[in-house]
Amino acid sequence: MRIGIIGAGHVGGTLARLLAKHGHEILIANSRGPQTLVDLVDDLVGAGGRAVTAEEAAQGGDLVIVSVPFGRYAELPVAGTADKTVIDTTNYYPERDGHLPELDRDETTSSELVQAHLRDAYVIKTFNTMYWEHLRDFGRQSSAQFRYALPVSGDDERAKRTVFDLVELLGFDPVDVGMLATGGRRQQPGTPVYGADLTAAQLRDRLGLPAPWGVPTPPGGVGSVRRG
Ligand SMILES: NC(=O)c1ccc[n+]([C@@H]2O[C@H](COP(=O)([O-])OP(=O)(O)OC[C@H]3O[C@@H](n4cnc5c(N)ncnc54)[C@H](OP(=O)(O)O)[C@@H]3O)[C@@H](O)[C@H]2O)c1
Repeated sequence: MRIGIIGAGHVGGTLARLLAKHGHEILIANSRGPQTLVDLVDDLVGAGGRAVTAEEAAQGGDLVIVSVPFGRYAELPVAGTADKTVIDTTNYYPERDGHLPELDRDETTSSELVQAHLRDAYVIKTFNTMYWEHLRDFGRQSSAQFRYALPVSGDDERAKRTVFDLVELLGFDPVDVGMLATGGRRQQPGTPVYGADLTAAQLRDRLGLPAPWGVPTPPGGVGSVRRG
C-alpha cells in the first residue's frame, strides 16, 4: 500500500520506518518541506519511500497517517482525503496546542475535530497511546507469548478493519474501543490506558470492556505513564 504520512517527528518517523520495513511505500511530509527530510528518507528508500509536501502525502497515499501536534490539525490538507482511511495519532495537550474550549469542556474529542476538518475521510484513532520508543521497539510476532495492544476507535467499520491489519502488521494487538466519540474518550490523555503498555486483555479490563467470548480476564496490567 502507498501510505501518506503527515508529520515526520517521533511518531510519524517511527511509523514510516516500521511500515517501510514491511514493504509499504511511504510518502512523508513535515511542515518545513521535503528537503529537510533527507536523513529519514535514506531509511525508506528500499521500499520506494520519499519526502513530499503535506498536500502530496494527502493526495498520493491510499491511506493517510496524521501525526502532527494536535494544535496544527486545521492546517492539514483536505484535498485528496475523501473516502480514504486517515489514522489520527494526535493528542490534545492544551499547554502545547493552545486551549480549545470545546475540548476543555469535554463537548467533543480531538479526533472528532480532525474528522470534521477532513470531512469526507474515515478517521480512525490509534498509535496515540504508546510512547514512540515503545511503538518502535515493542512490536512482536503473533506467535510471541504475549503482545502489547493498541486501542483503535473510529466510526467506519471497513476503515477500522484496514487499520486493525496495520496494527497487527506492526506487531500489536488491535482492540476496538468504540466510535470516535466514545472510543476517542477512552484512549485520550488521562485515561487508564494512555501511556500504559498493556496486553489486549489488560487494556479491556482497564476500560471495563467485556472480554471476547472464551478469553479469561487477566490480572491488572502495569505500565509507565508518559506524555506523548
Ligand atoms: N511522542 C510520543 O511518544 C507520542 C506518542 C503517541 C502520540 N503522540 C502524538 O502524535 C503527534 C505527533 O507527536 P510527535 O512526538 O511525533 O511530534 P514531533 O516529534 O514534534 O513531530 C511533529 C511533526 O509534525 C510536523 N508538522 C507540524 N505541523 C505540520 C503541518 N502543518 N504540516 C505538516 N507537518 C507538520 C513537524 O514538522 P516540522 O518539524 O517541519 O515542523 C514534525 O515533523 C502529537 O499529536 C502527539 O501528541 C506522540
